[in-house]
Amino acid sequence: MNIAIDGPAGAGKSTIARLLAKKLGFIYVDTGALYRCMALYYIRNNIDGSDAEKVAKCVDCIEVNLNYQNGAQHVFLNGEDVTDLIRTPKVSSMTSNVAVYPAVRERLLDTQRNIASENDVIMDGRDIGTNILPDAELKIYLTASIDSRADRRYKELAQKGEDVNIDDIKADIAERDERDKNRKTAPLRMAEDAVYVDSSDMSIDEVVEHIFNLAKARQ
Ligand code: DC
Repeated sequence: MNIAIDGPAGAGKSTIARLLAKKLGFIYVDTGALYRCMALYYIRNNIDGSDAEKVAKCVDCIEVNLNYQNGAQHVFLNGEDVTDLIRTPKVSSMTSNVAVYPAVRERLLDTQRNIASENDVIMDGRDIGTNILPDAELKIYLTASIDSRADRRYKELAQKGEDVNIDDIKADIAERDERDKNRKTAPLRMAEDAVYVDSSDMSIDEVVEHIFNLAKARQ
């Protein structure tokens, strides 16, 4: 069985999908981490994220792989485990920039489809239900108001000891939303057959329970 969860940054997709995967005995695939891996390569190699030609030219130098250690997803950039290096604001911003390019998206297509064809997965991202797994048995569009998404991201980063400002986070999320929704290739949008879930006023447990029941009904 494949479950697709799409939605904007900070809607709680990864937290929810991770808990659901545990509850259902599925593998959780965080596709944002794959794009982040590619972005890290561009940052390290001083490639300008707005230079479409240079970005596209480099895709073949980048090998992104996934594996699971004690149930946790690890991402590898050309053989190096970069799981802990891809969550910085700088990487987030570069990721949203380079994720607009068809060459970048194509590079990650098979990685995503292969893992879904071989396993029961819950995959989260922006175009999973619309593009990567159009035949997923359950599709969820998970969203929340920009204020609650910014607030959650702020708490998450502050907890990690990062020096963050709520207004900067809100501006960053709004900018990423805009770019993710308006890009030409595989923009963020709800699949026609997806279930819309607004988590602004729901607890994590409530969202998990709701989607778990939907999954059970379709299994
Ligand atoms: O989910 P995330 O915040 O880790 O995603 C980082 C960026 O990657 C986000 O701005 C959009 C992009 N992304 C995408 O275009 N398609 C996906 N399936 C996942 C992420």
